[in-house]
Amino acid sequence: MIFGRERIEYKTPEQVLRMRAAGLVVAQALAAVREHAVPGRTTADLDAVAAEVIRTAGATPSFLGYHGYPATLCVSVNDEIVHGIPGARVLAPGDVVSIDCGAIVDGWHGDSAITVVLDAPGGADPDDLALARVTEDAMWAGIAALATGQRIGDVGEAVEDVVDAAQAAGLNEGQRFGIVEEYVGHGIGSAMHLPPDVPNYRTRDRGARLRPGLCVAVEPMLVRGSRMTQVLEDDWTVVSDDGSRAAHWEHTVSVGENGIWVLTAEDGGASRLAALGVTIAPLG
Ligand code: MF3
Ligand code: CO
Repeated sequence: MIFGRERIEYKTPEQVLRMRAAGLVVAQALAAVREHAVPGRTTADLDAVAAEVIRTAGATPSFLGYHGYPATLCVSVNDEIVHGIPGARVLAPGDVVSIDCGAIVDGWHGDSAITVVLDAPGGADPDDLALARVTEDAMWAGIAALATGQRIGDVGEAVEDVVDAAQAAGLNEGQRFGIVEEYVGHGIGSAMHLPPDVPNYRTRDRGARLRPGLCVAVEPMLVRGSRMTQVLEDDWTVVSDDGSRAAHWEHTVSVGENGIWVLTAEDGGASRLAALGVTIAPLG
């Protein structure tokens, strides 16, 4: 979604704590779903697991009914990048499975995604593993930029730097990873999608200034080939134009007076951010 320079919703520390509650439900749902992401299960099975965790927590799934979306999760397999609808599809060895989940607690949203590469006889494709790992690393670099940077544009720059480094290291058979541009991260809070846009690439416009109370979803989407996308007949599923495989990682992050907090990570992002030299802020 393109919002331009619309009004940003800055949260109070109390509101961020409520977003943390939603973020933890999403983290729990994804942790449960990950256990079931194995060959032989259907994507609808994964959806049922997430729905159960969210319901048991007393939370509400945010995707279900969103512009008519029919499920709790988005499950996007192989050349599907995002917004895949769970159904009868049976997961196969070596599949690249991106799982996106959102939940609402007391009106406040959390949104997060993971990519799992399923095991296969002889091991999964190393380039698929690299795709998923580079996308995750790019997300963490983008998140760290919320702590060390000045503007939203620093996120996309950090993401692109990680992709460039992976390219220089000769991953992906020496081919360039494509960074999807048609879909971007977003502000989040009292709604799932709020201003500002959070692009995953370098932009001339440096974007909004990073200020306490800003909450955004950082969500890079990478493909092994061309970054161009198409939407399937179901009007939801976004696939790579050239059929190349895709990965998607996402976390909801708050920018506070004393630093950032990853609301959809069990540990607030502490371990992954420490490796990047970033200390997370105490919450509340
Ligand atoms: N979670 C997606 C995002 O990160 C949105 C999914 S909306 C749905 O922006 F309706 F497709 F579920
Ligand atoms: Co999102």
